Amino acid sequence: MKFVHFTDTHLLQDLESTNLKPIFEKLSNHNEKFKQALIDLVLEDVEFISITGDLIHEGSVEEYAELKKLLDTYVPNTPVFLTLGNHDVKENFNKVFLGKEHTNAYYYVKNLENYRVVVLDSAIIGEHSGAIQDEQLQWLEQTLAENYQHGTLVFMHHPIVWEEEAVCMENAKKLTSILTNSDTIGVFTGHTHMNGLHYIEHIPQFTAEGVAFGLVKEKDNCLSLTNQSGYNVYTVKNKLIEMKRSQIKPDLERLYTVKYEQAFRKHATENTKV
Ligand SMILES: [Fe+2]
Repeated sequence: MKFVHFTDTHLLQDLESTNLKPIFEKLSNHNEKFKQALIDLVLEDVEFISITGDLIHEGSVEEYAELKKLLDTYVPNTPVFLTLGNHDVKENFNKVFLGKEHTNAYYYVKNLENYRVVVLDSAIIGEHSGAIQDEQLQWLEQTLAENYQHGTLVFMHHPIVWEEEAVCMENAKKLTSILTNSDTIGVFTGHTHMNGLHYIEHIPQFTAEGVAFGLVKEKDNCLSLTNQSGYNVYTVKNKLIEMKRSQIKPDLERLYTVKYEQAFRKHATENTKV
């Protein structure tokens, strides 16, 4: 089975609406990068598309409508599994994609071919950091209680493991225990705008780079923002996952530099949080 993993598309309809205008002015257009990636996907014969959160930047209904339009236009026949991140606004997402007006967390399970796909919602309203709340953990435990054919693929925005703790999901002990005692064969995350492979005990955690922009670790605990963008394509065979990185825009020119904790601390400032 082959599928694509996009993350952090940060679609933006109105540059004037964002506090990051001085930074984003230096970047090429987020929406155009995503559109290019969807066009390039024609070359890949994927079973499904996943987008692991920060689907949009400001969270407006217009941004979600644009996301829906791009997906309907370029990949109308491919199943798409959407995940919410810290930039997502549940109310507006639910309105556009589910036709419902509520702020419920968005988590679900789907069986596809011989695999089970589980999407979790690690985004907490008003917070930059992530966590899976109790009700969702109970649901996950019940959902994964029985093994499913070739195993389970789990998608969420915040990583469970990363070198810098500020990036990781909070209070992931129970989540880790549920996943490691299940048939989960891979976890797929975003949030860092950097590619990464880590292990949650025996389970590989793949973090894809952002579609909208890239971040590069610098000396002195700093991060630089670049125009680099890309996504991952995975092939799953016999419970083993092979990753191929695809670049939409390879460009490592440093456009803006911030202290790591400005971008990723629990309550990152409105002007710099990613
Ligand atoms: Fe992001």
